[in-house]
Amino acid sequence: MCGIFGYVSRDPRGASVVLEGLRFLEYRGYDSWGIAVVGDQEILSQKATGKIAGAHTDLPPSAVALGHTRWATHGGVTYANAHPHLGCGRRFALIHNGIVENHQALRLELRSDHVFSSQTDTEVLVHLLEEEIESASDLTKALLAVFRRVEGLSAVAVVDAYTSEVAVAKNGSPVALGWANDGVYLASDANALIEHTRRIAFLEDGQAAGLSSNGVRLFEARSGHELDLDWCEVTWDAQKAGLNGYAHFMDKEIHEQPRVVQEIAVEKQDRARDLASLISRARDVYLIGCGSAHHAALSGRYMLSEVAGRGSTCAVASEMSLVYPQLSPESLVIALSQSGETIDVLDAVKGARERGATVAALVNSEGSALDRLADLSILLNCGPERCVLATKSYTAQLAVLQLTAHALSFDVERGTDELRNAALRLQELLDRDSTRRVIDEVARRTGDHEHLFILGRHRNYPLALEAALKIKEVSYMHAEGFAAGELKHGVIALVTPGTPCFILAPDSDFRREALAAAAEVRARGAFTVGFSPEDNADFDITIKTTDFASAPYEIAGASQLLAYRLALLRGCDPDKPRNLAKSVTVR
Ligand code: F6R
Repeated sequence: MCGIFGYVSRDPRGASVVLEGLRFLEYRGYDSWGIAVVGDQEILSQKATGKIAGAHTDLPPSAVALGHTRWATHGGVTYANAHPHLGCGRRFALIHNGIVENHQALRLELRSDHVFSSQTDTEVLVHLLEEEIESASDLTKALLAVFRRVEGLSAVAVVDAYTSEVAVAKNGSPVALGWANDGVYLASDANALIEHTRRIAFLEDGQAAGLSSNGVRLFEARSGHELDLDWCEVTWDAQKAGLNGYAHFMDKEIHEQPRVVQEIAVEKQDRARDLASLISRARDVYLIGCGSAHHAALSGRYMLSEVAGRGSTCAVASEMSLVYPQLSPESLVIALSQSGETIDVLDAVKGARERGATVAALVNSEGSALDRLADLSILLNCGPERCVLATKSYTAQLAVLQLTAHALSFDVERGTDELRNAALRLQELLDRDSTRRVIDEVARRTGDHEHLFILGRHRNYPLALEAALKIKEVSYMHAEGFAAGELKHGVIALVTPGTPCFILAPDSDFRREALAAAAEVRARGAFTVGFSPEDNADFDITIKTTDFASAPYEIAGASQLLAYRLALLRGCDPDKPRNLAKSVTVR
């Protein structure tokens, strides 16, 4: 979703530093962008719709700058609706992530002489600020006065051309501050700061900060009391954030997965034991997530059941209301999230907390809201995931859950062996020339179809859901994953000559049923692709998998590669699919 990047220093490179920061945040998904700098007692700004990639800034040198990438919610994708929004007097420029739910009511509370120039919910905030500054002692106090009147989850930042100060306040949307030798930074993703500094502080909900060339001051929003700032040194690897020779982050991140699985195999044993211990003490266990993280959660449910005989429930985080009545202090909620900022996951976790449940998190972004909220947080440590699509964070979640399932049956070493082997198998699959050849052929033979179906039974069912999600997100083909047993209950009506049907049959369990499904769709003329260790007369093409415990990773890797190839074939941008955002921070 929207990105925020700000810079306050004595160095006049403000606009270009912020432009680079916004480029980093591109991966979050956006449709327009803008930058404001402090000129001679007035704000100067540059805005544009479309991509930032080849953009230059023509703004003059300034030591203070604030920028934004907008993902449209209220008002179309236009120059006028792009942030920053300037007040009537050009003293302030304001940017905002989130939604001002009461923007219409707030507009009615303004004096009548304000001139609006956009259709956004945001613009009202800068006009309110123009009124609040008249009675406030400084910019941060004025922003807080505005912030207290706002309903909804937001992060708001504003720059003042008279004082060269920046103020930021947040409730819901993420904000990280960075302290560097050349100045102070703010961003909606701490990863965007590590090129400049590793000294980071995370703003909590209900907090605000004032940034000036003298430093940073932190305040509690409701009371206005000053708080101590808690700077920490983050350990992320800046190298991992680059393209490293790959054409797209999606391809790069697919190829990082063997390393990620291998590292989890050896480094997360203790954390898996910690989670297993929480599971064994809990009366009831819920695995939750959104999108790919939900699919990993569903795989986790099969793993806990099969490996450790432990029952659990899996829920889409936004449907947590189904589960609330069952939650108690003896419940354990395991929340999965790459970003740790997905609003539906945070809402679900807070709701679970209110009912006394213990919360564990499997999360990639260190310092994210989920990481900080959880009683036990297991960091995936797979490095920044810059492609909008989840790839390595998904397989990392699978790996931690597989290890945990074995830890729960008191044999974490077996989990480590399985994962080590899976990492090797996945590496081999990604390295094989034949994989690329077969995947290219499947892409060529399926890429002009409208529908594509993926059938999986039992533990392969969530893998089918995830493979379909990858293909639909990035290639815009209609891909549907379903439980193979459901074929005759509906989907078979859509199978016509040539319809691509993928059959997940990687192991002997339920193989007979998977092959029967392949025969049924083939009898109706489907083009069948088997994910299987063996060829079969009912597979037109086979993508080779190896053993039972490695198959989830091999199927994930192969279907991600296929999704990537389909995207390129169909002229889609693999890293920034239309309408999607990397972290969904609004409801
Ligand atoms: C799929 C994808 C999304 C995310 C979902 C949850 O490729 O990227 O479905 O998995 O938005 O995001 P996180 O994991 O950040 O909570």
